[in-house]
Amino acid sequence: MSLRINSFEEYQISYEESTLNPEKFWGDIAATFQWNKKWDTVLDWNFSEPRVKWFDGGKMNITENMLDRHLEKKGDQIAFYWEPNDPNAKQKRITYSTLYHEVCKTANALKALGIKKGDRVCIYMPMVLEAIVSIIACARIGAVHSIVFAGFSSTALADRINDAQAKLVITADGLNRGAKKIHLKQMVDDALKACNSVTDVIVFDCINCNADMLEGRDHDYTTLIQQMPDTCKAEPMDSEDLLFILYTSGSTGKPKGVVHTCGGYMVYTSYSFENVFQYEENDVFWCTADIGWITGHSYIVYGPLLSGATSVVFEGIPTYPDSGRFWAVCEKYNVNQFYTAPTAIRALMGAGLEVVNQYNLESLKVIGSVGEPINEEAWQWYYDHIGKKKCPVVDTWWQTETGGIMLSGLGAHSPMNPTHAGYPLPGIQPVLLDNNGAVIHENDVEGYLCMKFPWPSVLRTTYGDHNRCKNVYFSNYEGYYFTGDGAKRDRNGMYRIIGRVDDVINVSGHRFGTAEIEDAINTNEFAIESAVVGYPHAIKGQGIYAYVVVNDANQTTTEAIKNALMNSVTAGIGKIAKPDKIQIVSGLPKTRSGKIMRRILRKIAEGEKTEFGDTSTLLDPSVVEEIVNHSI
Ligand code: PRX
Repeated sequence: MSLRINSFEEYQISYEESTLNPEKFWGDIAATFQWNKKWDTVLDWNFSEPRVKWFDGGKMNITENMLDRHLEKKGDQIAFYWEPNDPNAKQKRITYSTLYHEVCKTANALKALGIKKGDRVCIYMPMVLEAIVSIIACARIGAVHSIVFAGFSSTALADRINDAQAKLVITADGLNRGAKKIHLKQMVDDALKACNSVTDVIVFDCINCNADMLEGRDHDYTTLIQQMPDTCKAEPMDSEDLLFILYTSGSTGKPKGVVHTCGGYMVYTSYSFENVFQYEENDVFWCTADIGWITGHSYIVYGPLLSGATSVVFEGIPTYPDSGRFWAVCEKYNVNQFYTAPTAIRALMGAGLEVVNQYNLESLKVIGSVGEPINEEAWQWYYDHIGKKKCPVVDTWWQTETGGIMLSGLGAHSPMNPTHAGYPLPGIQPVLLDNNGAVIHENDVEGYLCMKFPWPSVLRTTYGDHNRCKNVYFSNYEGYYFTGDGAKRDRNGMYRIIGRVDDVINVSGHRFGTAEIEDAINTNEFAIESAVVGYPHAIKGQGIYAYVVVNDANQTTTEAIKNALMNSVTAGIGKIAKPDKIQIVSGLPKTRSGKIMRRILRKIAEGEKTEFGDTSTLLDPSVVEEIVNHSI
């Protein structure tokens, strides 16, 4: 059996094999990789604990599979084209062989700073090649990377560094974002005032802004790396050793560190990459995500390199210098597979077809979507005008916790239905559960989306708190992994994601817990109490609506209070989580037992004025009336 599925019939056969005999199915696929020692058992699992081990007893290093394994045949092949933020700045390209040596040099630098297997390294970097090199360098020596999206604030960064007890931070002086420059190093310096686990910081000079360097702690990336030997033995890793931690938001508490391990993640990201995108030799793949999110981890760094692919890495944003940038980059590199988020598609749709039509998009073969439900209008526009009605749209549903794509078409081999992610990949066993937790067997139904069987890249734990992993994902429905999403299954068995059923909102494909935003608002001196909900937003998918009870004893203007509240969110989380609307209210709708009735607030945010369903438990109905009368 090969990794590659070449028709819908082959998919059906693989799917059946994967459910009838998962151990044989995944064992055969794993055998196509390079192992120092073969595994003892393919799978050992129990969702109640939860305990999931894939390829246990196997020894390997994921970077040998991403780099060393390809050197003989593909040493001179481009691994990455790097497209700078400024289209007139110099582009870069790096071959597999150069990437290998750069990774080794960086790995040696990490070792020279005392980083060993199992140590956590925080990466807070722009979309530059050095970020990718740093990620792989960690994996080379068995250090656990924790990448923090460079749009998060210093407080959010400090929380993540502290939770992981990172010893080292790799960052840059700053980053380019369209016409703006953002000073990252300053954020790191602020964060580190609250972190004592960090002994060293490596700073890459990206925007040439002469960032302050702290003697003894801070090291210039280029100076440090260039003195290092360009080979570095890969650390032998157990399949179940930690590969990385990635923080993601949930309905309660602070973001949690989702843990992925080496063997299963390697097998699944490569397998899903090749099949979903139907990547072929000499193709050019482009995933527009940031490395700070799981999409960047799995489909910029790990999946493509494991499969020996050539990819584009883009430093900039879709609208700079204008809304034709994505299409200009597709044309420039003859991109064959393009993978982006619905929010970007919706934003670029607004720029009009004249923009798109200036570019030659003939090279495209498969176009993908990820991060949030894609609405029908955006799907159709993408299919008609970007794919020119000849490229399949792969609407890929998955999560930070799933490590790789779970529901999706496989290139042109699967039937398509706009807004439907489609069928599960081989090895993925979704079920829909009803309100009582019972499995719904029929089609043409709606329910809570769960998984009844493990797949190689399922999260193993939440860092430092296994109970939390159990409570959040494996306790709602005994014996199942709960995704937090609601879904429909149509008459043909295709899945359509409805959206989150918990207090998580998805803003431009980015996940936030409402509680997390409320906590940030509540740090403000004006805030007494707040409630945050999501509401439909034409571009972002969901917008953030905050209802805040304030203390305005000093008669501050509403505008000034709102600005101050916004600033607290920027400081606590980052600009990406700023509410779209803030309504100052005198009270929140609560039940007699003091619980906020978010259901009512969500309806008001959606524009509802009168129909709020059962309000009999409401303590003070006049509160609702007041909020409706002043809703934004
Ligand atoms: O609600 C689903 C939505 O994004 C959530 C996962 O977010 P995150 O862990 O940040 O990962 C995003 C990128 C993989 C899911 O629970 N989601 C993701 N992809 C889709 C989606 N919703 C609908 N359709 C999708 N294709």
